[in-house]
Amino acid sequence: MRHLTDADVSGVVGLGGTLLGSSNRCNPRKFHPSTGANHHDHVSSLLPPDAPIDVTDRCLATLRAHRVDTLVVVGGDGTMTIAEDFAKQGVRVIGVPKTIDNDLPCTDLTFGFLTAVATATDALDRVHTTGKSHHRAMVVETMGRNAGWLALFAGVASGADVILLPEIPFSLESVCATVAERQRSRKGYSILAVAEGAKPVGGMQTVARFDPASPDPVRLGGIGALLGKQIEDRTGVETRITVLGHIQRGGAPIAADRVLATQFGAHAVQLLEAGAASRLVVWREGRVSDVALADAAGKQRLVPLDDHLIAAAREIGTSFGD
Ligand code: F6P
Repeated sequence: MRHLTDADVSGVVGLGGTLLGSSNRCNPRKFHPSTGANHHDHVSSLLPPDAPIDVTDRCLATLRAHRVDTLVVVGGDGTMTIAEDFAKQGVRVIGVPKTIDNDLPCTDLTFGFLTAVATATDALDRVHTTGKSHHRAMVVETMGRNAGWLALFAGVASGADVILLPEIPFSLESVCATVAERQRSRKGYSILAVAEGAKPVGGMQTVARFDPASPDPVRLGGIGALLGKQIEDRTGVETRITVLGHIQRGGAPIAADRVLATQFGAHAVQLLEAGAASRLVVWREGRVSDVALADAAGKQRLVPLDDHLIAAAREIGTSFGD
């Protein structure tokens, strides 16, 4: 617990991550003492967790002891679900959307997303060089959990030939047909943006690891490698795989994210001053506003199948593998 002054937060607008050191895996309702906030090593996450305990009362007592009158929580769906739980316990809470997955309901944007899109777009742009030079299929796996926003935006921005999203199960035949056809054409190479949550029709998502202490224990990953091997085996087109991983979640935020975060922060303070409680700051219809926290908690915002960006991408010939 530390009291922050103006000096502590001076210059943070250009930084990624969180200077608070908050956890992305601890749920006060199911807290695992040995894998707590200060114990995030790889080995402990592979061990069976000790019995979870409910430490909500301890959290509430800590807030009271430090006379915290309002909790401003910054995060995604897991964070907002816990925040809503605290609100029900009488804590005054204001939520601010932050996740690279952009999957929080009620808001068109969460901060962090546009920076991750820019990073993934840059990576997709860069693999064009090898794809084009050596006539290969280049598979780039993005993050995003169960939502395809990141792969969709980066895929469209980089002109990917195939974009695979969790929301649109893909047919291997269709993906291979696109790659084979492009190989035969004058283009001679293919770029595939694949969300980590993408799955084949009738198949399952690919799980990289299981973190038993986390409220959302499944960590997706590996679909790029599986798909790349199948493309190569079926089409004979030399295929290379790049997994972007946490590179998408790091580094300095781009200008648009800094502007968004500043507007979110200012609106959160206005809500505090107005005495509001249980509200979530959101970005809707091109401006900042707020909704009831309960409307967003416990839900995920997936890419709708009739999303205008999917339609636009289809118009220019992008395959979604369906
Ligand atoms: O929710 C953000 C996110 O980066 C997801 O896109 C990804 O699936 C997950 O977190 C990775 O989590 P971890 O950092 O625990 O591996």
